[in-house]
Parts: sequence; structure tokens; C-alpha cells
Amino acid sequence: MRKLGFETRAVHSGREDLTDLGVHAPPIDLSTTYPVGSLGGIGECFDALAQGGPLRDNPIYARLHNPTVVRFEKALAALEGAEEAVAFGSGMAALTAVLLAARQGGKHVVACRPVYGGTDHLLDSGLLGLEVTWTHPHHVSKALRPDTALVVLETPANPTLALIDIARVVAQAGDIPVLVDSTFATPVLQNPLAHGAAMVLHSATKFLGGHGDVMGGVVATSAAWAARLRQVRIATGGVLHPEAGYMLHRGLATLPVRVREAQRGAQFLAERLASHPAVSRTWYPGLASGDPEGLVGRQMRGPGCLLSFELAGGTKAAARVMERLELLTPAVSLGSVDTLIQHPASLTHRVVDATDREASGISEGMLRVSVGLENPEDLWADLQNALEALQREEIAARVEKPLFGLTNPGLGRS
Ligand SMILES: Cc1ncc(COP(=O)(O)O)c(C=O)c1O
Repeated sequence: MRKLGFETRAVHSGREDLTDLGVHAPPIDLSTTYPVGSLGGIGECFDALAQGGPLRDNPIYARLHNPTVVRFEKALAALEGAEEAVAFGSGMAALTAVLLAARQGGKHVVACRPVYGGTDHLLDSGLLGLEVTWTHPHHVSKALRPDTALVVLETPANPTLALIDIARVVAQAGDIPVLVDSTFATPVLQNPLAHGAAMVLHSATKFLGGHGDVMGGVVATSAAWAARLRQVRIATGGVLHPEAGYMLHRGLATLPVRVREAQRGAQFLAERLASHPAVSRTWYPGLASGDPEGLVGRQMRGPGCLLSFELAGGTKAAARVMERLELLTPAVSLGSVDTLIQHPASLTHRVVDATDREASGISEGMLRVSVGLENPEDLWADLQNALEALQREEIAARVEKPLFGLTNPGLGRS
């Protein structure tokens, strides 16, 4: 049989046994425990799971194994071209498990900024006993130490949409595993394992669920790494709830359609923002300025659904624009059917030291937009309205400002 196309895998993966079960929708198994019957052989079942191995006969306890979650894991692995995938209760729980699993190989991590603020904080805080060297993606080899256990990167990066050449970093890392957070790309637009990464991580809370109503995280990787991640998950308890597993699995079926349609809107908005006089800079991989190394087409199958833009007036201007919007929702998170806008310096990247933030290109005037499935013309009308109101306010403020100490009598001041 020919290799199934991506869209077909998105619809059918993890559902192979449904016909035999005589059902159309995957069953949700909410059991926290499973009757063990006789004790003969149950110890071996337990040991196999506790060592991160596959299910023998009995799941025993929901922290060790859940069949509904496994369906989502199998489907996601099929979309990433991975041997296996391991799901967690959130993207941060997934990252924590990767860091703890890698920690066994050394305490040093090399990472490239920017990354999601929570990731930056977890790496930089020392909470997990790690030492991190932040470096430019072209200088990864110089940052490696004998105790380096992992290289961490995010592409496209949150929130600057900077793209990193994964294969180039992998070549520099040599034997050291590279973890790619590919949340912004989704498996529709990028498969980091095909470029040599050892692990690919998604905050499933975003596009995989796709409707802003489920939290989760997942790592797609080799069978050996997956076993280590399951061991950590069993020990630390960062499991995905089966109802969330069901919803994430369902989300995968429409993922290609949602991502491609939202991407169309993002390209449209990025082009308009880039030529609007109130906007000092626009970041989007679908603009020539956003892809200096030509990675769209080579590494990514499209520029994606997120963009950022900058207002010269800093936080104050960003706040005024956010307040004026009627259709775009001012909120963190991304990848939902509706369009969300947020101010990274105040919210998602607030935990990052201001100097590091600025150095990685996250300015006070930056707003990040996650484009949803609305009519792009409606989104642009809302944005344009807010930007023009800002321009009018700025002009009025300039007129009101006293010139060389003189006041403007026409404005009723004495
Ligand atoms: C790129 C990226 N990675 C990881 C995370 C963390 O995921 P979660 O919020 O599901 O823990 C986020 C959250 O915004 C993110 O944007």
C-alpha cells in the first residue's frame, strides 16, 4: 500500500482498531485503576510499564498507562514521522520531562533565545539543577561542554518568529541530542526529526487542540527516548487526562485544514501591517525580511499562523491598540480558531529579564497575533481601525504639547 498522505494520517491515525471494536468515535477510558485479577504475571506488567516499556496485559494504574492517551500519542507520532510520542498534562510538563531525562547525561544545556518565556524561565532559573548557556544558533558548537546533555531551540521562535536552520544546529551538536519546540509550526508545516532533531515538542494546548479548551504537551521521538520520558512521567506524574487525550486526538483530524486556512489570513495581515505607517516593524516568515536563510520551502512547508508587529510608541501604544480592538481577543495562548493578540513584554515574556528580552528582539512596542479562522478582511478592518485611532491620538498629543515653553491658546490652556 502506498504511504498515506499527511491529511489521511491526520484523520485515521490512532483509530485503526475502531472497526473491530464496532465504534466510530474512540472510546474514552476514565479508569484510574484496573482490576488485576490473579497476581500471576502482574509484577512483570508493572515492571515493564515502570521502565517506560509498552503495555503487556494490564495498565494497572492510570499514571502508568491510559489507552485513550495512547491513541493521541500514536496519531501524533504518525504526523511527526516519529517512532513514538509521549503526552503530558501541559507543554511545560513535557519540557520538564525532557530536561529531567536529559539531565542523566549531564547538567549543561545549550539554548537559543528567544524561546517561550516559561521555557526561558525554567531553563534559566536553575530549578532543575541545570546550567544553561544561551547562544546564537550559528555558535552552538562553541557553547558545548563535556557535560552538555541537550541543545534546546524553538523555531519559529516565540514571539519574534525567527527561524532556525535545524539541520545546521544538529550538525554542530554532533552526538548531543537536539530538542526542537515546534509548537508554532505544528507537524503540518515542519517535521524537525526529518532534519536530525532527536525530539520535537509541542504545547498541544495550542494548534493541536485548536479550540482554546484543552491543555496538553507532547514529545515525538525515538522509542529509546520515549521510554525514558515515560519513566519520568510515571515518576513525576505529569500525565495527560484521558478526556484531554480524546480532544487532542480529535483536534488532529482538522489540523491541516485549520493551519492552512489560518496561515492564509496571517500572510494577508502581515502584508497589510508591513505597509501601514503606524507600524514600525512586522515579523512574519512569509515576508522576505522574516526568512533571511530561505527556510520556508526548505525546512518549513509554509510561514505559519503567527505574526508580530511593533509600534514605535512602546507599551503605551501597544496598550491603546489592544484596548481599541473589538474582534481580536486580547489574550495569551495561540493556535485557536479565533484570533488572539497579546503583549509579550507584559505577559508571555514578562518572566524574562528585560535586558535579555530586548537583546533577543522583544521590544516594548511588540504585539503578537495568533491568526484564527475569521474572514481576514474583518480582522484587518479591526486592526486598521485601532491603528488609525492610535495615529490620531499621537497627532493630537503632538499638537497639545507646548512648543518651546509656549502654550497653545487655541486649546484652551492658559
Ligand atoms: C512555544 C511554546 N512552547 C511551550 C509552551 C508551554 O506550553 P503550555 O502552556 O501548554 O504548558 C508555550 C506556551 O505558550 C509555547 O508558546
